[in-house]
Amino acid sequence: MRNALTKFFVIAILLLTVGQITLLLPGVLYAFHEGGVGYCEGCHDLHSPLQVSGEGTNEGDISGFGAYMLKGSDPSSTCLICHAEAGAFYNIFSGDGSRYTPGGDFYWLKKTFSSTVNGDIYLSEGDNHGHNVIASDYGLAEDRILDSAPGGTYSSFAMGCTSCHNPHGTISGNANNSNAIGVSGSYGSVAPQGTIAGNFRLLGGSGYNGGSRSDGISFAYPAPVAAGHPDNWTETDTNHTAYGSGMSEWCGNCHNEMLSGSNKHPSGDNSKLSNSAVSNYNAYIKTGDSRGMQAASYLSLVPFELGTADKYLLVPSSSSGPDAFGQANVMCLTCHRVHASAFPFIGRWDFSATFIADSHPKTGDGGVSGSDVLNSYYGRNMAAQFGQYQRHLCNKCHMQD
Ligand code: HEC
Ligand code: HEC
Ligand code: HEC
Ligand code: HEC
Ligand code: HEC
Ligand code: HEC
Repeated sequence: MRNALTKFFVIAILLLTVGQITLLLPGVLYAFHEGGVGYCEGCHDLHSPLQVSGEGTNEGDISGFGAYMLKGSDPSSTCLICHAEAGAFYNIFSGDGSRYTPGGDFYWLKKTFSSTVNGDIYLSEGDNHGHNVIASDYGLAEDRILDSAPGGTYSSFAMGCTSCHNPHGTISGNANNSNAIGVSGSYGSVAPQGTIAGNFRLLGGSGYNGGSRSDGISFAYPAPVAAGHPDNWTETDTNHTAYGSGMSEWCGNCHNEMLSGSNKHPSGDNSKLSNSAVSNYNAYIKTGDSRGMQAASYLSLVPFELGTADKYLLVPSSSSGPDAFGQANVMCLTCHRVHASAFPFIGRWDFSATFIADSHPKTGDGGVSGSDVLNSYYGRNMAAQFGQYQRHLCNKCHMQD
């Protein structure tokens, strides 16, 4: 009798759990965008009660985020319905900084770290950790420090996922595609006959308007050429975006003046690595150890572009450093991430630390929680891998240590 009852409860609980899990699934298990526009109802709700009240309810009112019958209160909240889903490989906004994707985890926007350095309070501000996408359903708001893109005019007030990603995945701006999109443009795959590949990561192409709040800008540069692994987006030295070309120029759509100029670090398709930068990159393992070899020298904390527009040459699993043909170039993402990082100026490492092991967040800093310190360097224990006295990672190319 007792056994039967226990069994009944176990089954009842199992059934309840299964029911709940099914309810929690958003109805998308794997593919959605398929390189172009996903099914409309993934993002638009044609009869949403959300649309009946609140800001921007007028259809066609492009000033309000409530327009366009979106499922979330604004474009970025709509994307995050799926992209903040716990446990999904396509999550890019976790609750604990544990997403090690190439773009980075928007979690860091919510984290401000404080420490005392030589008697002064040092703050590493959340707003300074990333592009401040506005997603009101998820507590993400406009940047309070910068009101527009440094080196450009794009307004912080317009910043969201659709500033950079074209939600409908068209190739050139908002114009119709010349042919059907048959495959994602992010994985170096061949498009089926009679179709074309989408842009890398659905990024806005030349002519893109930068989203509905951007006040009618038009991107001058096309989407970059790069390739990643189709469903494992955890960045390591042997699984990373393989960057081909055009990334810096693409950032220049909003940060035009950072592309070139006398006081700017070279960056872009024409900023080729010199012979000495190539041999340093390949030899450098860490401060005090430059016995590396090209075949094993790739460091995902300091990536470079291969200098090719041919995506079939890009190998995300490659552990190889740049080769001596003089093609590889330095780019914005050599030093920065694009979404967010644990460090100021969206650095791939802490630019203000002389010794990498002293980077903030550091154990004991105000604001640190959970595994922040480990997650800040994508799961690497920096002191263990590089030593206590590892200096700035600029040395991968310049070797001043
Ligand atoms: C209904 C769920 C859902 C919504 C809403 C959604 N996504 Fe996705 N997204 C996915 C899934 C699933 C994948 C992985 C499979 C794929 O690429 O289709 C993905 C992949 C992506 C990728 C990588 C695709 C590639 O081919 O490289 C980007 C970039 C992206 N999403 C951006 C966005 C943006 C921007 C929005 C909002 C405008 C958005 N997503 C809204 C589910 C969603
Ligand atoms: C400032 C431009 C920008 C903004 C804003 C932006 N993205 Fe991205 N995103 C990129 C670029 C560039 C990449 C490619 C990163 C790489 O491979 O290094 C990317 C990559 C991705 C990926 C693939 C996984 C990864 O992290 O590499 C997804 C998914 C994605 N973005 C979704 C989103 C969503 C959802 C939002 C809004 C919450 C968003 N992005 C906001 C530029 C942006
Ligand atoms: C659609 C326009 C747009 C694009 C494309 C864009 N940015 Fe930005 N960026 C902005 C704006 C606006 C700000 C200031 C507000 C903010 O941080 O959200 C900014 C801020 C920054 C900052 C300073 C962050 C801080 O808070 O201190 C860095 C670094 C940066 N961008 C790098 C990049 C890189 C690298 C790329 C290309 C991979 C890129 N941006 C592409 C619009 C853009
Ligand atoms: C990945 C999410 C996503 C999918 C899928 C999607 N949309 Fe959208 N759509 C948006 C967002 C976000 C906006 C608002 C644009 C902005 O604010 O930058 C928008 C705006 C629009 C607009 C008005 C502005 C414009 O660009 O003309 C129309 C019309 C539209 N969508 C139709 C569609 C149709 C039809 C489909 C299906 C074929 C579709 N959308 C699929 C996210 C999506
Ligand atoms: C060699 C490394 C390196 C490269 C390459 C690089 N940056 Fe930076 N960037 C930095 C550092 C370090 C800072 C910190 C502040 C400073 O020194 O100006 C910074 C700061 C910034 C800022 C914030 C400036 C401000 O006034 O708030 C922006 C925006 C930015 N970079 C964008 C870019 C863009 C866009 C590119 C590519 C065109 C790029 N960076 C290439 C290292 C780099
Ligand atoms: C991926 C390789 C790479 C990385 C990483 C890198 N640089 Fe550079 N840097 C270059 C290249 C290429 C040049 C152009 C001159 C040359 O070829 O030496 C350059 C030029 C410079 C110059 C001008 C020197 C001159 O001779 O004109 C300075 C200063 C500089 N870098 C500082 C930095 C700093 C600081 C960092 C880290 C925040 C950094 N670099 C990271 C590749 C790199």
